[in-house]
Amino acid sequence: MRILVTGATANIGRMVVDELLDLGVADVRAFTVDPARAALPAGVEVVTGFFNRPDTVAAALDGVDRMYLAPHIPTVDAVCRAAAEAGVRHIVDLAGVKGLHWQAIEDAVEACGVPFTHLEPGEFMANATGWAPQIRAGDEVRDAWGDAANAPIAQEDIAAIAARVLLSDDHFGRSYELTGPETISRRQQVAMIGAELGRDLTYVELAGDVAAAHYRELMGEFGDWYLNGLAQLAEHPQPALPTAATLLNRPAMSFAAWVRRHVDLFR
Ligand SMILES: NC(=O)c1ccc[n+]([C@@H]2O[C@H](COP(=O)([O-])OP(=O)(O)OC[C@H]3O[C@@H](n4cnc5c(N)ncnc54)[C@H](OP(=O)(O)O)[C@@H]3O)[C@@H](O)[C@H]2O)c1
Repeated sequence: MRILVTGATANIGRMVVDELLDLGVADVRAFTVDPARAALPAGVEVVTGFFNRPDTVAAALDGVDRMYLAPHIPTVDAVCRAAAEAGVRHIVDLAGVKGLHWQAIEDAVEACGVPFTHLEPGEFMANATGWAPQIRAGDEVRDAWGDAANAPIAQEDIAAIAARVLLSDDHFGRSYELTGPETISRRQQVAMIGAELGRDLTYVELAGDVAAAHYRELMGEFGDWYLNGLAQLAEHPQPALPTAATLLNRPAMSFAAWVRRHVDLFR
């Protein structure tokens, strides 16, 4: 079985490659814009190409049975059509919560007619690295809605799930909403990063116009949307779902474990 992993330069796609190798897959083809940066393991077939040029994806699809689809909305329709034409028999796509920005990914995948599995993670634990500059500079994290609570997931777990789902026929037509194992507030996340660093970090609450300006600076046009989402999470915390652990057949990574693994990002 030949599996094409797109987006293999960075983050989840790169980790999907490692997971597939760990699971004993012999025929992994990695599609990457930058083979040197991707530093792919020996035994992986490397194909250089650009998501923005779907013809390069089409060229990488020869003989491919299954594909991990990293999210790149501008060309997703053409990429999915190419996968269908190449005879791909399962697409596992990374999208996000249904009905938001990433819906275009799922729509394109479903329109192309290839059996699919949608992975729908909520917030990534890695989003906590947004606090890293403040934590490196001092003991205060100035941010909004410290009591907003959700169940962030580790990208490592998303990659491990993608690899397992790619290897099975049991997930065709399924959508998996993915969270981490526990609901934690932003204030708790900052405290846990502090505990790992051996420092007492304080979450300093920003509110009103100050918070709005902070988020517009961070996220531009998405700032108000994100801030509004935090307000909702303060009122209605996101519950942790068992789905990731079920698919992994082990507990999903805790936030504390994620911080331990990535603590250097905050030093
Ligand atoms: N942060 C969250 O809380 C959250 C939640 C749900 C979903 N998401 C989505 O999940 C994705 C993050 O996953 P990830 O970290 O694995 O992805 P990523 O590293 O941001 O991107 C995955 C791959 O997409 C390609 N790519 C990215 N930007 C591109 C561009 N402008 N032009 C052409 N190709 C581009 C790259 O492919 P090459 O390898 O070829 O360079 C890259 O390796 C994001 O798209 C995000 O929107 C995020």
